[in-house]
Amino acid sequence: MGRGRFVRPVREPAGWQEGVCHTGAWFRRGGRGPIVGCMFAVYAARIDRDQPLSGLESGERPAPEARPGWSTVQVRAASLNHHDLWSLRGVGLPEGRLPMILGCDAAGIDEDGNEVVLHSVIGQSGHGVGPDEPRSILTERYQGTFAERVAVPTWNILPKPKELSFAEAACLPTAWLTAYRMLFTNAGVRPGDSVLVQGAGGGVATAAIVLGKAAGLRVFATSRDEAKRKRAVELGAVEAVEPGARLPQRVDAVIETVGAATWSHSVKSLRPGGTLVISGATSGDRPSHAELTRIFFLELKVVGSTMGTKDELEDLLAFCAATGVRPVVDEVLPLDRAREGFERLASGDLFGKIVFSNS
Ligand SMILES: NC(=O)c1ccc[n+]([C@@H]2O[C@H](COP(=O)([O-])OP(=O)(O)OC[C@H]3O[C@@H](n4cnc5c(N)ncnc54)[C@H](OP(=O)(O)O)[C@@H]3O)[C@@H](O)[C@H]2O)c1
Repeated sequence: MGRGRFVRPVREPAGWQEGVCHTGAWFRRGGRGPIVGCMFAVYAARIDRDQPLSGLESGERPAPEARPGWSTVQVRAASLNHHDLWSLRGVGLPEGRLPMILGCDAAGIDEDGNEVVLHSVIGQSGHGVGPDEPRSILTERYQGTFAERVAVPTWNILPKPKELSFAEAACLPTAWLTAYRMLFTNAGVRPGDSVLVQGAGGGVATAAIVLGKAAGLRVFATSRDEAKRKRAVELGAVEAVEPGARLPQRVDAVIETVGAATWSHSVKSLRPGGTLVISGATSGDRPSHAELTRIFFLELKVVGSTMGTKDELEDLLAFCAATGVRPVVDEVLPLDRAREGFERLASGDLFGKIVFSNS
């Protein structure tokens, strides 16, 4: 912290205020309040579908504006998701919303000094936004967490269990929540069931392996990389194989985030009546073999899944606190070295989550 500098303290009655930071960044804020400020942030300045990192910039951005029903959180840690790379490619983030501070997840300190975690799905309940506003994830419509401060509807703030560090807690609201909902809500598995997790090195995938193991599932995994397959077994998978390899048994459910590259294998790995849950398509969303015949003949279920509810995030936090399960953190980097983390995510050279620290 400490990179943000307050400039030109302004004491004015309610109404919009506009100005320029010492760096030249423009700001605007509304409502009552004594201070106008800027802060250090990492943001999407341009969209580039082919070279997404060319649009990634860092520097001063306007601090969050006061807004009825919303609160500001000092970000202590924020984790990187593939969603941030998609945003730089323009997926879910139109040019007209730029510049947009990236980052969907955060843990930090709220306005009353409490340690908190954010639920990053905005508008799911209507809290803090209009009743007709569609659901969005932080960074799609509202500024994200790769910053010193972030504003969210107050309803979206949950207490951070003391058992979890800020870095660990910051991994939970997107990748881990997604894995939790895929496994325990949408796959409907129970202890003793078997599950295949595709792309073992990913943030959602490592979460699914760890959560599945802790919940008494028989977890299989795939990875293109031998070292990652070994790590998957260390995390609790009974066996990790190359993508496409035959498993020792057909599974009750598949956790799919890789997409086109693994889709056919996912379908073929299911037992009759099994469930394929998909929440992402990193390798593309047009598999060459959709396996349609197998899907209807074996009465397989294909279920889409996105993020999770606030209740599910509360349950996930409690699950981690109670079981000792902790997110797999690949690396913690200071926020001003965020580009290194984005480069590792883009190259696939990671196992678990990359976290940016503000402390
Ligand atoms: N719907 C939602 O709410 C939601 C939430 C979170 C994430 N997602 C999506 O889920 C996907 C994964 O997200 P993440 O943050 O976990 O990403 P990540 O950490 O980048 O994981 C991607 C993993 O996919 C595997 N992979 C990538 N390309 C592959 C290919 N061509 N063939 C085989 N495997 C490949 C890799 O596994 P190996 O290197 O081990 O083979 C890699 O570790 C993304 O598309 C993301 O947008 C969706």
